[in-house]
Amino acid sequence: MDQNILKQQVAAAAIEYITPHLREDMIIGVGTGSTANCFIDQLAALRHRFDGTVASSEASAERLKSHGIPVYDLNSVKEMPFYIDGADETNAQLELIKGGGAALTREKIVASVAREFICIADESKLVQRLGKYPLPVEVIPMARSAVARTLVQLGGTPAWREGVTTDNGNIILDVYDLNIVDAPQLESAINDIPGVVTNGLFAIQPASVLLLAGVNGVQKLTR
Ligand code: A5P
Repeated sequence: MDQNILKQQVAAAAIEYITPHLREDMIIGVGTGSTANCFIDQLAALRHRFDGTVASSEASAERLKSHGIPVYDLNSVKEMPFYIDGADETNAQLELIKGGGAALTREKIVASVAREFICIADESKLVQRLGKYPLPVEVIPMARSAVARTLVQLGGTPAWREGVTTDNGNIILDVYDLNIVDAPQLESAINDIPGVVTNGLFAIQPASVLLLAGVNGVQKLTR
């Protein structure tokens, strides 16, 4: 089945999931990427039923605003019941690899504030073991080579995503060949390297709910 149709279907399932809970003063966290874009476009029809959003990237903020949906600075938001975002890979434990769109740091921050992280994906993203998709790592530019050498010691093969600067002014190293057996442990180990801002493993705090679209419809997985 066409992947775009699956993305639309899973976005619709997320809309259905949150709709009964919407309140006039509610702030919704919104992610980044093509699946999140489908969600944003469908959220537009409900824009009078909640207060506004916090976006995980400048690109998503622009798209939300183009629909007339208010976007708030996270610093002005205390409570966020839901964060809705896609993923590059997920396992059955709802541990994720994210950051294909280079927005991983803001995604992790916004997800950490939300009570529930609803991950929306098509079934091509579900894997038995994480790591086929190269793990994005956001790095302070001056630390690029030093961080890359340490990532090699951890068994990875880092590649600089040249020409890409994150919304935070940093660079991305995509790490290939990682054998991810213990995702929370690797997430901490990479975050401990000086110069790393964050990495795209969402395992210490995985998704709360995974909505997964496939040929037989959308299934809901929880931990
Ligand atoms: C953005 O940085 C990523 O984490 C996205 O959530 C991820 O790349 C999924 O994107 P798609 O929905 O376009 O596959």
